[in-house]
This record gives sequence, structure tokens and C-alpha cells, in this order.
Amino acid sequence: MVEGKWFAPGTPVSPEMLSVRRAVFGREEDALDAESWNAVIWADGVPAACGRIWWKEDAFWLGDIGVLQEYRGRGLGDLALRLLLFKAQSHAAREVRLRCAPETEGFFSRLGFRPASGGSDAVEMAMAGSDIDLDTCRNCHREDCPSRH
Ligand SMILES: CC(C)(COP(=O)(O)OP(=O)(O)OC[C@H]1O[C@@H](n2cnc3c(N)ncnc32)[C@H](O)[C@@H]1OP(=O)(O)O)[C@@H](O)C(=O)NCCC(=O)NCCS
Repeated sequence: MVEGKWFAPGTPVSPEMLSVRRAVFGREEDALDAESWNAVIWADGVPAACGRIWWKEDAFWLGDIGVLQEYRGRGLGDLALRLLLFKAQSHAAREVRLRCAPETEGFFSRLGFRPASGGSDAVEMAMAGSDIDLDTCRNCHREDCPSRH
């Protein structure tokens, strides 16, 4: 079973979120956590993915989206990103931005992010809030899907 949970700004930082962040990014709690919504995703009872969203200078920023190595390739990263985009959308975001390693650019462009600036170490990506599209069926051509009938 896959379960997601939100931790609101100003609430105690979740030890489960920190366990994922530590394993993926080698980082601990920081000052940004107090102003962020943190999302944690459990897979079969194991905290396996995390991500956060915060407001800064007229945009919502996403960051620290990570999945434990052994849980990658199962859609958990996609779920984390969609949860964060849903949060941005439900706060009427005008713009959503993030910084990522160039090798993950494709992961974010799938859901509409476009490079805004970049270097060899990090790319800044952005999308307009009005372009957030969480309809997972729109571009799917699966003929045997029960939703088609
Ligand atoms: C990037 C990351 C979050 C992806 O998580 P994941 O759980 O493996 O991804 P998913 O299984 O949800 O993949 C969803 C889709 O994205 C694609 N995808 C995954 N990683 C990708 C990448 N690096 N580049 C392009 N596409 C990618 C998958 O192929 C899949 O495509 P599909 O829907 O067509 O099958 C994970 O690899 C990770 O934690 N990386 C290290 C931390 C990091 O770099 N985070 C991003 C910057 S904050």
C-alpha cells in the first residue's frame, strides 16, 4: 500500500521525512522546513519518498524531491511531484519553480516544467501555475483501461 502525508509549516519535522532526505541527499533538517509543506510517502509501511514546497519571491518552490534508491522506478517520485503540484495549484500558484540536477530535467519536464536558466551543476526550471495539469489520463493511449468504458 502507498500512503502520503503532509506536514504543515511550523509543525515538528517528521523523522520519517528526515530519514528519506538523509538517505537520498545526505542532508538534515534546515531553516526552510519551518516554512515548508513537507510531503512523505510510505510504501508498504516504509518511508520511501519525500519532497517539500515553500513560497519565496512571488513563486512556489519545490525541492528535495527524493526516493530511496531501492524504491525508484515505481511511480513514487511521480506521486511526490504531483502532490507538491497539487498543493501549489490549490494555493492558486502563479508560478512554480525548482532547481534540479541536469540528469533529472526530463523527470520534471514530463509534467510541464521548462528550463529557465542553468549551468552544468543545476538547472532552474519553471512553469506557470495555470499550466499545472494533474490529469494522468490525458496522454495515455492504453486501450484496455477500465476508465475508457
Ligand atoms: C528523480 C527521482 C525523484 C525519480 O523518482 P522515481 O520514483 O524513480 O520516478 P518514477 O518511478 O515516479 O518515474 C516516473 C516517470 O519519470 C521518469 N523518470 C524517472 N527518473 C527520470 C529521470 N531522471 N529523467 C527522466 N525521466 C525520469 C520515469 O521513467 C517514469 O516515466 P513513465 O511515467 O513514462 O514511466 C529519483 O530518481 C531520485 O530520488 N533521484 C535522486 C534525487 C533527485 O535528483 N531529485 C530531483 C531533484 S530535487
